[in-house]
Amino acid sequence: MPGSGSPLPDEARRANLALWDEWARIHEGTEFYDVEGFKAGRSSLWPLETEELGPYVTDGTTLLHLQCHFGLDTLSWARRGAEVVGVDFSGTAIALARRLADEVGLAGRATFIESDVYDAARHLGGRRFDIVFVSWGAIEWLPDLEVWARLCAAHLKPGGRFYMAELHPLAYCLDETTGPAELRLRYRYLPAPDHPVVDPIEGSYADPSADTTGHVSYSWSHSFAEVVGALLGAGLRLEFLHEAPFSVSPVFELMEKDEQRWWWLPDGSGGRRADVPFSYSLMAVMPDRAGAPAFAPASDEATETGAGAADASAARGPCTEDEE
Ligand SMILES: C[S@@+](CC[C@H](N)C(=O)[O-])C[C@H]1O[C@@H](n2cnc3c(N)ncnc32)[C@H](O)[C@@H]1O
Repeated sequence: MPGSGSPLPDEARRANLALWDEWARIHEGTEFYDVEGFKAGRSSLWPLETEELGPYVTDGTTLLHLQCHFGLDTLSWARRGAEVVGVDFSGTAIALARRLADEVGLAGRATFIESDVYDAARHLGGRRFDIVFVSWGAIEWLPDLEVWARLCAAHLKPGGRFYMAELHPLAYCLDETTGPAELRLRYRYLPAPDHPVVDPIEGSYADPSADTTGHVSYSWSHSFAEVVGALLGAGLRLEFLHEAPFSVSPVFELMEKDEQRWWWLPDGSGGRRADVPFSYSLMAVMPDRAGAPAFAPASDEATETGAGAADASAARGPCTEDEE
């Protein structure tokens, strides 16, 4: 039975699944996802991912993509030669991912599994991958990162790499703002597994005008210490943690898109604010038996930071908890 091994409460699972099935239907036709562009050969991957993880993906690299939505990123890695497996709990998203894989001729290199991420081990049968990949708006749907991190580690080969690119925990704390100089902390920063944020949903990040009447979402805050601690606790070794002042979607209405599709907060005088993080990326390695990474990058680029990424650092200081 789906969800039986999951720390996700049933009520949250039902609500989030209904929402994601609806969003998958909506997202197929959005400019944000640009499915036609993908079919014509465009990669859906962001420059950060291709710069930081791309050098590790060569012909035959095995890649597990957790919470793959309808598979555009999964299939974009397959286009670069990887043998990919995508996991998502939305049957609508997985059906679309399989259809797209067929349409673009990648079905032979791509498998899609409909499963709660917490139940994925039952479907993966102990298979280990060179890379486990997680991206953009994935972990907020998960109450428990220790179970999740153990799953990621359990499916990595010795020397394999875990990579994630995500929205920054600080960005989740900020209140809606009308001016770039008026940022205010409002939502919680520190984790609270027993206190999901329950929000009515209006539209989607990919189509704010979409009709999603009646849907609510259950989500959880995750601090840097929680994310990194869970991964280290699962036996992975942190290789880098980068922060960046741009986002994949507008966190605030006043954000502006650049030529690479990144969204920036304007500084109020014609420039962009580079002092507030909206994204982070992280790589961690599963040590091999001798304790050293065995899976080498295809080129030296892999050790460089992504465009605009700042040095590794951790966000500090809790925000107020007045949202609950
Ligand atoms: C924002 S999307 C991931 C974004 C992806 N990188 C993209 O833009 O294509 C989050 C995904 O997590 C999936 N999801 C949420 N909770 C899940 C769970 N418990 N198990 C498996 N998938 C889940 C949703 O169905 C959705 O496809």
